[in-house]
Amino acid sequence: MNPNPQIVVLDAGGQYCHLIARKVRDLGVYAEVRASETPASELAAARGIIISGGPNSVYDAGSPTVDRAIFAQPHAVLGICYGQQLMAYLLGGQVRKGDKGEYGLATLELDDTCDPLFAGLAGRQQVWMSHRDTVYGLPEGFSAVGRTATCAIAAVAAPDRRLYAVQFHPEVVHTTRGKEILSNFIFRVCGCCKDWDPRQRIPLIEQEIRDCVGGRNVFFFVSGGVDSSVAFALCGRALGVDRVRGVYVDTGLMRAGETDFVGRLPGVSVESAQEQFLTALAGVTEPEQKRHIIGEEFVRVQERIIDGRRLVDEHWILGQGTIYPDTIESGGTRNAALIKTHHNRVAGIQRLIECGRIVEPLKSLYKDEVREVGRELGLPSELLDRHPFPGPGLAIRCLCSEFDAPVRETPEGWVVPVHSVGVQGDSRSYAPILALDRLDHASATELINRLTEVNRVVALVAAKSPLSRLQVLACSLTPDRLARLRAADATVRRLSHDSGFDRQVWQFPVILIPLGTPEHPDSVVLRPVDSVDGMTAQSVAMPAALLEQISQELLAQPGIAAVFYDLTHKPPATIEWE
Ligand code: XMP
Repeated sequence: MNPNPQIVVLDAGGQYCHLIARKVRDLGVYAEVRASETPASELAAARGIIISGGPNSVYDAGSPTVDRAIFAQPHAVLGICYGQQLMAYLLGGQVRKGDKGEYGLATLELDDTCDPLFAGLAGRQQVWMSHRDTVYGLPEGFSAVGRTATCAIAAVAAPDRRLYAVQFHPEVVHTTRGKEILSNFIFRVCGCCKDWDPRQRIPLIEQEIRDCVGGRNVFFFVSGGVDSSVAFALCGRALGVDRVRGVYVDTGLMRAGETDFVGRLPGVSVESAQEQFLTALAGVTEPEQKRHIIGEEFVRVQERIIDGRRLVDEHWILGQGTIYPDTIESGGTRNAALIKTHHNRVAGIQRLIECGRIVEPLKSLYKDEVREVGRELGLPSELLDRHPFPGPGLAIRCLCSEFDAPVRETPEGWVVPVHSVGVQGDSRSYAPILALDRLDHASATELINRLTEVNRVVALVAAKSPLSRLQVLACSLTPDRLARLRAADATVRRLSHDSGFDRQVWQFPVILIPLGTPEHPDSVVLRPVDSVDGMTAQSVAMPAALLEQISQELLAQPGIAAVFYDLTHKPPATIEWE
């Protein structure tokens, strides 16, 4: 179905492979992700291979590797981060194992080489680093052409062998000239021609839908998110709307107004399952357990609906909004992928796939390509430009605690024993937060780099009592607390929409944490972030007047003791708290 990929990205773990493939496609060249160990013989037709970054060390047992014959084939190879270390290691160079690592922005000094990869890029530029190990001895034929203050070998080239590597990440936006490096690689080094525009694939996708569905009808689970909505619309266009039906499962973990919004979409009906989800989650405090339970309950509802509607008879086939990253089996440990595995690849659905009863029109597209397709189809921006919302819903924004625990004063601020998830060099952390009494992004960044005890820094912006009097109170995921979060989220959404602030941010999670007093047991955390793809994100400052208005309205709500503002970028914190 797809053109032969001119560029293949070998997945060395983590999510970087998809970011790279997406960036290559943005440049108009079709790229696919393959497992790192793919035999060289299967890659021979590609014009270029990119080995992605990943969390491992080349010295770890079982860490991803590549078929070293790829280095002797005529195509060019670019190693990125772990890809650079792996290339150096496999070709006889030396890699030093690091304990601490280098995460974040750095200044790259690039030599004035006549090498096509770095054409027009000589001099100083900002790059983004995320690594522990470094290359310190180069294989034969390689020379170092770029360095940073802490990494002597940050860009290497062996032009005669068409092999290149960089320690930084050209695929992330913080590497200001990363796009030019990728463009140089695919066009100047590999000689690719432009062959990719997702909008031009719409007629092809519609034909694929008709071929796959035949004379049957299509049934969808829609979530109100971009993917399932676009897939649903494509099937409606390809087959006619009366042959396509959608069901939206109300898990009780949705935001205020969401069920009404999705229920109004043409051809969609609502299945109520609030009680089922909330009963299964009663008393649960641990984040991973929440995610697991939600996945399992979702499977049950899906199977019930599928069985009830006799979807497995010869008249029906299931449609899904599965997108490209969800279809790749990779070695990475990705939470979002795990959740989506629950939803899109559960046992009942796996059976349908096996007997050809699934249609997945978006399975070769990335999210931004899905949006482009949706725009081309004329879907409203109200639907296409919605902020992302996680599958497990408000459950992972409503933090719980097994114990009562006091906050602790330190020279830097207050350590609050509410644990949240973070990410560093692609590994997960789970640690308490530090609360400051001032909105100060610069100190937050400095503190988070220096302190090891915490992985997130928040500022107190409004409170009914002083911080020293607040404490963490044991609680779980109850309907009352979910209602409290839903009300706070609705307030923040309304005010940020009315002021236009929601259009300046990529996503704006609102989190409930069990920090307060017996009378007002919870606090709200505001987490507006800017991002391009969710892989990295920056905490965004908000206009003072809007913050004041939000804080006042939130403090007026029952049960809310204080309002905080998350000052932490990703990394080291994640966007969602759990
Ligand atoms: P994190 O928290 O990992 O989030 O920085 C990155 C992006 O992914 C979304 N997210 C999820 N989406 N199911 C989803 O469909 C999930 O389990 C999930 N967890 C995080 C998050 O909202 C952000 O946009």
